[in-house]
Amino acid sequence: MGIRYWEKERMFQLDTPNTSYVIGIADQEGFLGHVYYGKRLSGVQGAERLLRVDRPLEDWQVYNRDRLSFLDCFPMEYSGHGVGDFRESSIRVKDSGGHSAVLLTYRSHEIYQGKRKLEGLPATFGTKDEAATLAITCRDDAVGLEAVLEYSVFEDTDAIARSVRLTNLGKEPLVLEKVMSGCLDMDNRDFDMITLHGSWARERRIERKKLGHGVHSVSSLRGESGHQEHPFMALLESTATQTAGDVYGFHFVYSGNFIAQAQVNQFDSVRVVMGINPEDFAWTLCQGESFQAPEMILVYSGQGLGGMSRSFHDLYRRHLIRSPYRNKKRPILINNWEATYFDFDQDKLFDIAKEASQMGIEMLVMDDGWFGNRFDDNRALGDWKVNEEKLKGGLKALVDRVNGLGMDFGIWFEPEMVSPESELYRAHPDWAIAVPGREPGRARNQYVLDVSRREVRDCILDQMFRVLHSANIRYVKWDMNRPLSDLGSAALPAGRQGELYHRYVLGMYEMQERLLAEFPELLLENCSGGGARFDPGMLYYSPQIWCSDDTDAIERLRIQEGTALIYPLSTMGAHVSVCPNHAVGRVTPFATRGFVALAGTFGYELDVTKLSPQDKETVRRQVVMYHRFNDLVREGDYYRIASFGDNHLFDCFQVVSRDKKESLIFFVQVLGEVNQKSRIVKLQGLAGDRSYDLREVVMDGKDTQDIIRESGLSFGGDLLMNGGLVIDRPWGDFQARLFWLQEKQE
Ligand code: GLA
Repeated sequence: MGIRYWEKERMFQLDTPNTSYVIGIADQEGFLGHVYYGKRLSGVQGAERLLRVDRPLEDWQVYNRDRLSFLDCFPMEYSGHGVGDFRESSIRVKDSGGHSAVLLTYRSHEIYQGKRKLEGLPATFGTKDEAATLAITCRDDAVGLEAVLEYSVFEDTDAIARSVRLTNLGKEPLVLEKVMSGCLDMDNRDFDMITLHGSWARERRIERKKLGHGVHSVSSLRGESGHQEHPFMALLESTATQTAGDVYGFHFVYSGNFIAQAQVNQFDSVRVVMGINPEDFAWTLCQGESFQAPEMILVYSGQGLGGMSRSFHDLYRRHLIRSPYRNKKRPILINNWEATYFDFDQDKLFDIAKEASQMGIEMLVMDDGWFGNRFDDNRALGDWKVNEEKLKGGLKALVDRVNGLGMDFGIWFEPEMVSPESELYRAHPDWAIAVPGREPGRARNQYVLDVSRREVRDCILDQMFRVLHSANIRYVKWDMNRPLSDLGSAALPAGRQGELYHRYVLGMYEMQERLLAEFPELLLENCSGGGARFDPGMLYYSPQIWCSDDTDAIERLRIQEGTALIYPLSTMGAHVSVCPNHAVGRVTPFATRGFVALAGTFGYELDVTKLSPQDKETVRRQVVMYHRFNDLVREGDYYRIASFGDNHLFDCFQVVSRDKKESLIFFVQVLGEVNQKSRIVKLQGLAGDRSYDLREVVMDGKDTQDIIRESGLSFGGDLLMNGGLVIDRPWGDFQARLFWLQEKQE
């Protein structure tokens, strides 16, 4: 790992264990250009040619005659606006005269060990031993604007973190109308583009298509990252697979409006930009003030999509998730949402907890419906006081009873929202986001609180802290059940309403920061109508995020596959729920639901008091399974073997321990086929020169602890990877099998 400045070549070389990123300074004017991103290099000799300045720069007088053609093809490290580069800009600034041309050029740089915090924003981190940072200062004197472009590399992960900080050096205010967090110019190599799309209960489906000319983008204007599109984009060679080929992945560490664009231009070069969505964004920067743009993550993999996924997973597990839980087994929880919805009282919850505790479940999470007069979802958001009609005796009494069973207790909040029918709204109608004279649109019959305002945040946090201090509560589910609309803040002056979307996100981050400062040991799970705010920004605060309101094991295969393309399995909230499934009405075997949930955080969301004795026994076995395998699932390397989304028949993925001594193979036959032979799946990530014993995890052993079935078979790692593992075809639809490979003990 390291960052070098090559004086003669005027180039910066940033190295991660297997990749290099090279930036060059061209000409006396100091154009900052992108030179290279790919497999690790030994040095930069001759790399000037890659800047594609087709005539020698000494000829600059001649060159200047055609400055526009130069600027329109030079590979810019951070593209300007309105001065002759007609591709996507990275920045647009209005000066006091109303002009918006800007071009930032090199002034100085600093290289240091470690990584600075991004003020007010979630970001990756690393100590002096783990990370190094290059900070390049650029300026545009005509505008009076300074930009510090920061790049950090990590000694143990093939990822680069970029961010930008802008400062107004002039006397007059500037208005930032567009600030991308990064820009990358490359030659198009017949790239495909991968993005993630979805909807409520159908999040993050992988879409791959050819990258043609023009601009291709994904974005959100919902005030959150959203169910629909994801702040992620990958460009990959059209021949790239899970195991081979060049892949570039880009991910945005932010939880609000975003845009990611890939543009193929007239010269077949491609420009990627990613940042806060410029639509409805205008940020006034007065003299001396700075604006910090969120972080963008770049990953290059020369080993296909799998290599990219594993780099993102490692980065997030080591350098983004701060929670004390990030490397710990989480308690197996049972959430009452799908069990009771709003219809519960303390006895009902206690009965569920009691039954659950007897099966080894470790925490009861009380979901929506416990506060104010919240008998349905039309009221009470904002009134975070326990409803003693439902919970007679109060919260502490219930929590103490649950604790008495040896179980922990968790609770649900939706802190950013207010119901029109609530004490809070009656007292402070101007605290809801709204445009004067226009009734704001409701969603789930609720409004969004203007958490850009300190007094709003204080009021909500104050109520939350009171609840959380009143009993032994170890977990919070922080929900957010509607997008933002009708943007207007009663606290912002007319000219600054364009700051609200971003100020909202900063306010929400600050609330999470304060919650964790007050309760450092709290296990926080973020959520947004399922997985609408499953993004790296939220991971900084919570080690896990509810993946989707669709808990059907088969639907989850695709949702969890798309999520695992970038996120470690340890972050994906996944529960076993009842059948017919509440989202799709499908009936799947109890064992299949357990195997699929094992590939996430693992928990339950059903009324265990109503389970058959046989299903209760399966729960007990699943608890044994979780304790036996969660370390491997949480810490291991993830390999995608086959995708139900592609083949429409079966799904297969694998987790391998770091030392390659053991591996789990998850196989789900979604649809049975008649008259077919057994299936062969080629495994990955094993040690080719070692032998492995094959065992199977089963839910029908002699007794509860008996979940491992010997096969009596052993295989060479190279055979399993090149020849494959033969799986006898299960009988029926939705059948899952879980295999366990362990290095043979001599
Ligand atoms: C959202 C969440 C659910 C549940 C409900 C409660 O939809 O995703 O898990 O908490 O809210 O209203």
